[in-house]
Amino acid sequence: MKKEIKQNQTTANVSYGEAVDLVRSFLERRYQENIPLAYVHTYGCQQNVSDGEKIKGMLAEMGYGFTDDVRNANLILLNTCAVRENAEDRVLGAIGAMKHQRMRDDELVLCVCGCMVQQPHIAEKIRKSYPYVDLLFGPHVLNKLPEMLYAVLAEKRHIQNISETGEGVAEGLPVRRDQAFKAWLPIMSGCNNFCSYCIVPYVRGREKSRKSADILAEFRSLVDDGYKEITLLGQNVNSYGKGLEEDINFAKLLRMLNAVPGDFRIRFMSSHPKDATLELIDTIAACDKVCKHFHLPVQCGSDRILKLMNRGYTVADYMKLVQYAKEKIPDISFTSDIIVGFPGETEEDFEGTLQLLKEVQFDSLFSFIYSKRIGTKAASMEDPTSQEEKSERFNRLIALEKEIGAARYRNFVGKTYRILVDGPGRSGPAYYSGRNDGYMIVDYNGKPEDIGKFVTVKVTKSLNWALLGERVPDK
Ligand code: 5AD
Ligand code: SF4
Repeated sequence: MKKEIKQNQTTANVSYGEAVDLVRSFLERRYQENIPLAYVHTYGCQQNVSDGEKIKGMLAEMGYGFTDDVRNANLILLNTCAVRENAEDRVLGAIGAMKHQRMRDDELVLCVCGCMVQQPHIAEKIRKSYPYVDLLFGPHVLNKLPEMLYAVLAEKRHIQNISETGEGVAEGLPVRRDQAFKAWLPIMSGCNNFCSYCIVPYVRGREKSRKSADILAEFRSLVDDGYKEITLLGQNVNSYGKGLEEDINFAKLLRMLNAVPGDFRIRFMSSHPKDATLELIDTIAACDKVCKHFHLPVQCGSDRILKLMNRGYTVADYMKLVQYAKEKIPDISFTSDIIVGFPGETEEDFEGTLQLLKEVQFDSLFSFIYSKRIGTKAASMEDPTSQEEKSERFNRLIALEKEIGAARYRNFVGKTYRILVDGPGRSGPAYYSGRNDGYMIVDYNGKPEDIGKFVTVKVTKSLNWALLGERVPDK
């Protein structure tokens, strides 16, 4: 992919703290006793949601309040995703829809950031077709938000910064978490794998792990603050630790975090099968706080396509991991990501994917139709299959997974699970809903005060998308 395009550096050249103070006093002068409001919308994966929480942390520190109604906003920020085209189309639609509001209000600041704008052709498109966007920046310069915002506010500048140099996960930024009992904790950034369909390594850069001491300190403070579920994030958590000076890998990190005292559970995502080890599975088995849920994206069930995808494993390698995990942890729940319609996928290749689904018996799937990403290897591969045929395969995949999931869910009737309650359920007004260790949705007769707590539920019925149960006394 083409290197950096036009840079528009800020003149401020101040430290993070100084820039926060500059923005804060500017806002106080401009808005006096009124609190300026920010509307922040994040698209895409949990990594991006986590970045969005840091963006909100920084905005709060600078003096912004928040609104869910874009019409009331003094600052609009769209934190974008580049993984598939439809997410990009939605963002461009949203920017287009904001034109009038921005043109009417000279003091409104419109920011677009995240993975999508890190692609030079998108940055260029926004510059040309949506010139009213005030601030455009990529994921590598998240911590420069106050400095860039100050230049926009005080100097009325349009800033575009898609620098490719960053420091990995920025340490020490304030975080305004969306939830009070579930937290995202990035342990690394970037990706080195270059799966041939994927844009992530181009927009998020190379893998960089955080020091285990920094992760542990953040983890401890989350536990102290009462968080009940902490999800460790990385594009490929299984390669955590590479490049660090300390002797650590992901399994060791899990053991270290599992040893922190408290009543909480640990999740992680995503894992790459080529780097998943038997040591990791033994660790999941041994750590009481680590959920018995393995999200292990397989992408497809054809060795030929896996090779073209540059995934670095075969179906047999994947099945070896699944079998080992099922032996060690009989009630483990497997979920996965599947791409349907990769360039050149034949009916036979696709049937390999269906066969794999039957063998693994995933509890749920995140399935996608292949989306061509400019600059990736797969974008230049022959792709003779029509969209109609890809959609038809996609529907067959969903139908099979529904069948498999429903059959598996029927086996859970009569079992008792500890669930962390998220909020009202979908099964009726008296129902509350949470997830069990295996990431399945469980609806039960609950109360508002259960939200954010662990409760014990006995499953009485299986629905296609969830389990239904009754609250029973905790063990
Ligand atoms: N098209 C469709 N799906 C994709 N993913 C990544 N890139 C693409 C693409 N170009 C999916 C993969 C990955 C998940 C996060 O998104 O399944 O695991
Ligand atoms: Fe993309 Fe593959 Fe990296 Fe996941 S591991 S972010 S699919 S390149």
